[in-house]
Amino acid sequence: MADKVTKTLLHSIELQQYILDTSAYPREHQFLKELKEATMEKYGRLRELNVPSDEGLFLSMLLKLTGAKRTLEIGVFTGYSLLTTALAIPPDGQIIAIDTDKEAYEVGLPVIKKAGVEHKIKFVHSDAIPVLDNLVAEKENEQGEGFDFVFVDADKTAYASYHERMMDLLKVGGLVVYDNTLWYSTVRMEEDEAREYMRSNEMMGDDLDGFIAGRASIVGFNKLLASDPRVEISQVSIADGVTLCRRVL
Ligand SMILES: C[S@@+](CC[C@H](N)C(=O)[O-])C[C@H]1O[C@@H](n2cnc3c(N)ncnc32)[C@H](O)[C@@H]1O
Repeated sequence: MADKVTKTLLHSIELQQYILDTSAYPREHQFLKELKEATMEKYGRLRELNVPSDEGLFLSMLLKLTGAKRTLEIGVFTGYSLLTTALAIPPDGQIIAIDTDKEAYEVGLPVIKKAGVEHKIKFVHSDAIPVLDNLVAEKENEQGEGFDFVFVDADKTAYASYHERMMDLLKVGGLVVYDNTLWYSTVRMEEDEAREYMRSNEMMGDDLDGFIAGRASIVGFNKLLASDPRVEISQVSIADGVTLCRRVL
C-alpha cells in the first residue's frame, strides 16, 4: 500500500509508476513532455493539476476513435489536456477552451505554438458558466452546431451545472468526459475521514475546506449521472477517476 496520499486510484505508487514508465512515457508526445517541463518550472508540485500522461493517452485515443472535430474544454490550466486534444483532432478540428486563469494558459502557449496547433484553439478567459450559456443560446438560435467531444476539468462544485448545459451543447451521440470523479479516492469516505486523509497532501495548501466541498459535489454528481437517462455512462478507474458520458437523448 502507498504510504502517502496519491491522486491515482491505484494505491500502489510502484504499480502506477510501472504504467507510466512502461507504456505512457515512451508514447508521450515530445511537445507534451515540454509542456509538462514548462509547468514544473513555473508551478513546481502544482504541475499535478495537469492530467497525468496515461490519462492523456486515453483522451487522445477517445478523440481519435470518436473522430471528434468540434470540441470544448472546461479547465485548461497550462494546457496538457488541451494540447493532447489539439494534437489528436484533425487539421480542421476546433477547440473552445475556457479558463479563468489566462496566466497559466500562457505558460503552455509557447509549446502549443511550437507544435503548430494553435490555430485549432479558441481560448476564452472567463468563468465557464456564462460562456456555456452563450453557446447554448447560439445553438438555440441555430447559429451553432453541437459538440462531438467535451472534456470537463474545472470547478468540481459546478459539475452538475456544467452537465445540464452539456445536455444542450453535445450532439446526440457526442461524448462528455468528466475528470476527477473519484476525487483522490475520498468519494468512498465519510467527511471526517476524507479531511484527515487529505491533511497531509502538500497540494491542499490551506484549501482543505474547498477540497471537502469539491468532494461533496463529486459524490452527488456521481449519483446524478447514474440516474440520468439522457446519457450512457462508464466510470473508468484511471488516474483520479474519469467518467465517460455519451449523450443518448
Ligand atoms: C485541474 S486544472 C485543469 C488541468 C488541465 N485540464 C490540464 O490537463 O492541464 C483546473 C482548471 O480549472 C480552472 N477553473 C476553475 N474554476 C473555473 C471556472 N469556474 N471556470 C473556468 N475555469 C475554471 C482553473 O483555473 C484551473 O486552471
